[in-house]
Amino acid sequence: MSRRLPDFPWDTLAAAKATAQAYPGGFIDLSVGTPVDPTPQVVRDALAAASDAHGYPQVWGTPDLREAISAWFARRRNAHGVDPDGVLPVVGSKEFVAWLPTILGLGPDDAVGFPEAAYPTYDVGARIAGARPVPAASTVQFGPSAPKLLWLNTPGNPTGQVLGVEHLAKVVRWARERGVIVASDECYSELDWREGVDDLTTPSILDDRVCAGDHTGLLSVYSLSKQSNMAGYRAAFVAGDRDLVQQLLAFRKHAGMIVPWPVQRALLAAVQDDAHVAEQKERYRRRRAMLKAALNESGWRTDYSDAGLYLWATKGQPCRATVDELAAKGILAAPGDFYGAAGAEHVRIALTASDEQITSAAQRLTSG
Ligand SMILES: Cc1ncc(COP(=O)(O)O)c(C=O)c1O
Repeated sequence: MSRRLPDFPWDTLAAAKATAQAYPGGFIDLSVGTPVDPTPQVVRDALAAASDAHGYPQVWGTPDLREAISAWFARRRNAHGVDPDGVLPVVGSKEFVAWLPTILGLGPDDAVGFPEAAYPTYDVGARIAGARPVPAASTVQFGPSAPKLLWLNTPGNPTGQVLGVEHLAKVVRWARERGVIVASDECYSELDWREGVDDLTTPSILDDRVCAGDHTGLLSVYSLSKQSNMAGYRAAFVAGDRDLVQQLLAFRKHAGMIVPWPVQRALLAAVQDDAHVAEQKERYRRRRAMLKAALNESGWRTDYSDAGLYLWATKGQPCRATVDELAAKGILAAPGDFYGAAGAEHVRIALTASDEQITSAAQRLTSG
């Protein structure tokens, strides 16, 4: 099995990391998207209040949790009519991304599509299942041989690209004509920086404007790790096609893939409270503005980066050279080649550092 999986790419950053760590002014790690701000009190209180968890929790989640997630889709994602029976909590979304092709029973005859510059776990999930991973810039690339499963990621990691309503609707039509399951990974949706969308989130695959309330063959995957600083809780969910979700549920029951009870209650508190999400968004907005201005001022180009926790930036040279230049200033960024050949000249710069560190990184970027 391990022969099917790629080497863990972070090992190749060891030398750049050592250089950055030796910088006298202090090491600033902008290579990973791990939240640095505290988990909101409302979430921690819910977790603590559920610490008596002597019995097994439901794999499916309690009805109140599934109803709250359905209400969240209506309130925050313009997706009305999400059936609470088509909602399922999962143990962080990485776990779900890695296992979905296997749970769907895909194998050597099946392809799994995903974006050209992508979060590596779509590829890994296809490999775990023994299926064929196919990075694709657009659905046209598949020609007559459609994949069984197509991953979308909007807003995208690493690019910050947002897929609009029209684009998503087109993909849904294409997929339905070919019986392709579309799973849309949407964990950065609350962090959309485009002008005029402050009260909205990035469009979901389940948005009424995209699928007119018909969720057949569609799954929206969402994580609380980023929007609620809950990466350590492992709290995420999937919603959409009821029959598909029931299939996933049956598998997960057999395999014991259960979200712990205190985490289920914390997840419930998090999806019912929009205030902490707005507060966190403001923190990232400040950090993003500071870093983006510093990059612009020092001659970098940022592409996409319309939403999410990363700046997808380039100096028009191989990404490893850029990583080394940043490391010499004590800053570690992720090389674009981690995310596929399409990222060969980009680096991914995360906004997940303290205000003080981001201020310092911006100063180092602009000081020659
Ligand atoms: C696109 C994308 N999907 C999924 C995940 C996994 O998130 P988690 O497992 O914390 O829910 C990440 C984390 O960085 C991500 O960027």
